Amino acid sequence: MIRQVCITCGAEYGADEVIYSCKRCGDLLDVEYDYEALAERLEGSDWRSLPLSVWRYRDFLPICDLSKVVTLKEGGTGLHQCSRLSNLLGVKRLYVKNEGENPTGSFKDRGMTVGVTKALELDVKTVICASTGNTSASLAAYAAKAGLRCIVLIPSGKTAYGKLAQAMIYGAEVVQIRGNFDQALRIVLKLSERHREVYLLNSINPYRLEGQKSLAYEICDQLNGKAPDRVILPMGNAGNISAVWKGLTEFHRLGLIDDLPRMVGIQAEGASPIARAIKLGSDVVTPVERPETVATAIRIGAPVSWKKAVRALRESSGVAETVTDEEILDAQRMLARCEGLFVEPASASSIAGLRKLVELGEIDKDEVVVCVATGHGLKDPDIVMKMCGRPLEADAEVGSIEKLLGLTQAFR
Ligand SMILES: Cc1ncc(COP(=O)(O)O)c(C=O)c1O
Ligand SMILES: [Zn+2]
Repeated sequence: MIRQVCITCGAEYGADEVIYSCKRCGDLLDVEYDYEALAERLEGSDWRSLPLSVWRYRDFLPICDLSKVVTLKEGGTGLHQCSRLSNLLGVKRLYVKNEGENPTGSFKDRGMTVGVTKALELDVKTVICASTGNTSASLAAYAAKAGLRCIVLIPSGKTAYGKLAQAMIYGAEVVQIRGNFDQALRIVLKLSERHREVYLLNSINPYRLEGQKSLAYEICDQLNGKAPDRVILPMGNAGNISAVWKGLTEFHRLGLIDDLPRMVGIQAEGASPIARAIKLGSDVVTPVERPETVATAIRIGAPVSWKKAVRALRESSGVAETVTDEEILDAQRMLARCEGLFVEPASASSIAGLRKLVELGEIDKDEVVVCVATGHGLKDPDIVMKMCGRPLEADAEVGSIEKLLGLTQAFR
């Protein structure tokens, strides 16, 4: 039996009720299962023989009609052991879970395959979201595959071109508002409350987070049934860290891992309401009025899922940390040059955070660490070109290129 449950007052709602917050107290909802029945179902299931992907975990997901699944082959992303980078940072075993390998280049695809499938189960015809870029790119792709109308609100200012191009080519109706992300989210929430035909697929929708929890399942399976000591993630709206923690606790509850890792949430200094609260020992998050950071995907001042994130960090004896834009861009370059992994700035904040926490002595060199790289670097090429400068130039002639590159050891 699947139900939606309020995280604060425990009020319960049916699985097919279209609802984004508790009617009694207004707080967030979680999807809950009958875990004894799930454990029994797993006994008779062939899930372990399926290829690594979101739908390998179909028994753990809130979808009843598998014939409706909308998939672009999401999940199954690489867990890369990064020995050159771990030497530099001073940790023994570092892995990067490269979510840029997903169909639209970010972890959002895990949530959208489940969220858009749920939309078909609910028989809605229009999906909507507010987005700093990746959510819209992902929703637009899955809506296209499902034949649904897709509406996207993006904030004013520059949305990374790679992401905007994706939303446009997949055919979403993209509206840029004169306002920031937090205002865009308030508007789409209002629209979905006022119009029953509009289904909201921001991370306030608990079904989307159910897809995202598969990231945690995959990490444990890729480490042969063991959880790492730490999982480090960037936090924007904080839906992903909440989803990953839910996945980990579910695997633990079902006896599929013995230990739980400590969660680490990283925010950019100019957009760090959760990290600030955690560092101050407070469980209440005060929004930041004008969030600012080069990592546009996490430029969020009022994180929707802050309560779930605080719970994940507290329950796991985790930590939160802030990193500067300079530290983020340094980490982005370091990961690309040491490991051949090109990730976007928001994703690189997990590496920047690891570097800082090792330096502070908070993370021990013997720990097994997984950094989640949430999105592909090509999403935002402008930032890279600014950082790396222009290519070298030369005449189209062998001699001048030899000179430019210092190639002196000619064959005799
Ligand atoms: C690349 C990337 N990293 C991190 C995040 C933050 O995820 P969340 O809002 O779930 O905390 C986002 C969200 O847009 C993102 O696109
Ligand atoms: Zn409630």
